Amino acid sequence: MTTTLDLTEEEVVRTGTGTSDAYERLLARLSHQSVVKHFDAYGDIDWDGEDFAIEGSDARWELGDDDPLGATDWYRSQSQEERAQIGLDVVAAKMKMGLQFESILKRGLLEFASDLPNGFPEFRYAYHEVIEEAQHSLMFQEFVNRSGLDALGLKKIDMWQARRFIAFGRHFPPLFFAFVLGGEDPIDHVQRKALRRGQELHPLLERIMRIHVTEEARHLSFARQYLKNTVVGLGPIRRAILGIGAPLILSGMAQMMMQPSRQVVRIHGIPLRVISEAYRKNPSHKAETRESLRKVRQLWQELGLLRPGYRDVWRALGLIESKGAASHGGRWLRTRATVAAVHGAQCGGRRRRPAGRLLPRTQPRTR
Ligand SMILES: [Fe+2]
Ligand SMILES: [Fe+2]
Repeated sequence: MTTTLDLTEEEVVRTGTGTSDAYERLLARLSHQSVVKHFDAYGDIDWDGEDFAIEGSDARWELGDDDPLGATDWYRSQSQEERAQIGLDVVAAKMKMGLQFESILKRGLLEFASDLPNGFPEFRYAYHEVIEEAQHSLMFQEFVNRSGLDALGLKKIDMWQARRFIAFGRHFPPLFFAFVLGGEDPIDHVQRKALRRGQELHPLLERIMRIHVTEEARHLSFARQYLKNTVVGLGPIRRAILGIGAPLILSGMAQMMMQPSRQVVRIHGIPLRVISEAYRKNPSHKAETRESLRKVRQLWQELGLLRPGYRDVWRALGLIESKGAASHGGRWLRTRATVAAVHGAQCGGRRRRPAGRLLPRTQPRTR
């Protein structure tokens, strides 16, 4: 088992930034890494090992004080067993959502690869990534199966929205890769933070996170570099779609990836006021969400897609700190503030004044 805290970082273009040679060298390095440093969900995880057994009352599943929900009085007032069970269910539910996201991602990558001319190096790398994501989905589903939670995953409406991004893999890859970053960057941020924290993790979870972080570094590297290479050549309409669409996508994805699922809220009877305290009205959670999207925000800045009109959309969604006003975190296009900001961006960046639940579903738990 891997024990080192030395986490793999993203590969970057080392020399000749922006040249097609440098880009192709990066793709060659990423593809080579996929050959020499890859993992198998069953060959590289000892699922039946004694240390890897999952027990719902194991204190190592408990959420720490640095977790938004774990820091609430409500959570701390629960029994030790209940705190651990909530922590385990939060992890299992996120893995279920993660594999659903990866399902969209794999199909979008296949669409992307299907339209590439012969000889393009992206084809090989995209297939390496599809294979790696398939291994991730196998390990996430195996964890869910062993967790005891019959995890439901995303709501049908959210799955429907996410599925629409598959076609963008072929018709508008930059928007598809914005979606990819929206799902991968927040999870990568959360997993790296957990691994660096130094707190004892359940060994199975640690193993899964280390495998995932190692391979995601390549996926993130590819998505970022692909965007750097292609956005520069886009026309104004496509750039505007990216400038407005990306923050909407990122906001929705980050909220989904960083909050407990509705199912977990319902099963454990977490009061909505606690969810509100932990997430919606919690400035440190909002700051953490912004931090999880820092790299993609910097990329958008670099691509010239954070000019004043577009910046208002980011700010209305709470992805950039508001100046002197409460930021509005939001899912998709739901708040008047966001509508106003999007309209402002569409109107050439003229500033407009921003104006401004968890729906439990019934599902028996199977244990
Ligand atoms: Fe993955
Ligand atoms: Fe990935």
